[in-house]
Amino acid sequence: MNKLFAANWKMHKTRAEAATTASELARLCAAPPAGREVLLIPPFTALAETGAAIATADRFFLGAQNLYPADHGAFTGEISPAMLKDCGATFALAGHSERRHILGESDALVGEKTAFGLASGLKIILCVGETLDERKAGRLAEVIERQTRAGLSGVPVDVDPERICVAYEPVWAIGTGLVAGSAEIVEAHGLVRKLLEGIFGANGRLARILYGGSVKPGNASEIIGLDNVDGVLVGGASLKADEFSRIVLA
Ligand code: PGA
Repeated sequence: MNKLFAANWKMHKTRAEAATTASELARLCAAPPAGREVLLIPPFTALAETGAAIATADRFFLGAQNLYPADHGAFTGEISPAMLKDCGATFALAGHSERRHILGESDALVGEKTAFGLASGLKIILCVGETLDERKAGRLAEVIERQTRAGLSGVPVDVDPERICVAYEPVWAIGTGLVAGSAEIVEAHGLVRKLLEGIFGANGRLARILYGGSVKPGNASEIIGLDNVDGVLVGGASLKADEFSRIVLA
């Protein structure tokens, strides 16, 4: 399975800035090493420009940071999968920890987004991860299981597993400079893999599990080489083309 290197630009970059960074990345990573794919996830407003900048780049894909689980309707401020696809996106995140913890998204809503996004033809990256308090209280496995099961509860078991990614992102490692240790990453990814196999059977081995949380050029190659790590989801270190290219090429 190809490893996915995803750049989550969060609420950063104007259209022009996104186009410049995307073009620069396409140039720096003109030939990602075999078996690697690059996914750029700009804010909604820069999807079209970012997509145009990577249109001819080999193994580059475009994704959105969120979606609303309906085709259209009276949902002020929301964006449907059809609209995202119209902008060129083929992937979307569901349940990023900032949406769960700052915007108050529930497990149930994240599950609806995951199921609807997949049914609409998008590939979905379902984000899960424990807070520091939950980890300290020994609740890692319980939180990951709850978020993973709820996130995938509406997904048909015969779904193409290659359209699903689960990103394990410990909340305490996001944007903090704290990286989960190798043993912690292997443990959490092993839990996610077991859950995926429980839900999808042997196909659960074909869904990708990404790690996210303070991934940098200096730690990327070690992380990407760990058991059950099929890619990385990168925030801060994805904003500059030079820095993110060093992660993709690490
Ligand atoms: P970070 O963010 O790389 O800045 O820690 C990761 C994420 O939120 O996806």
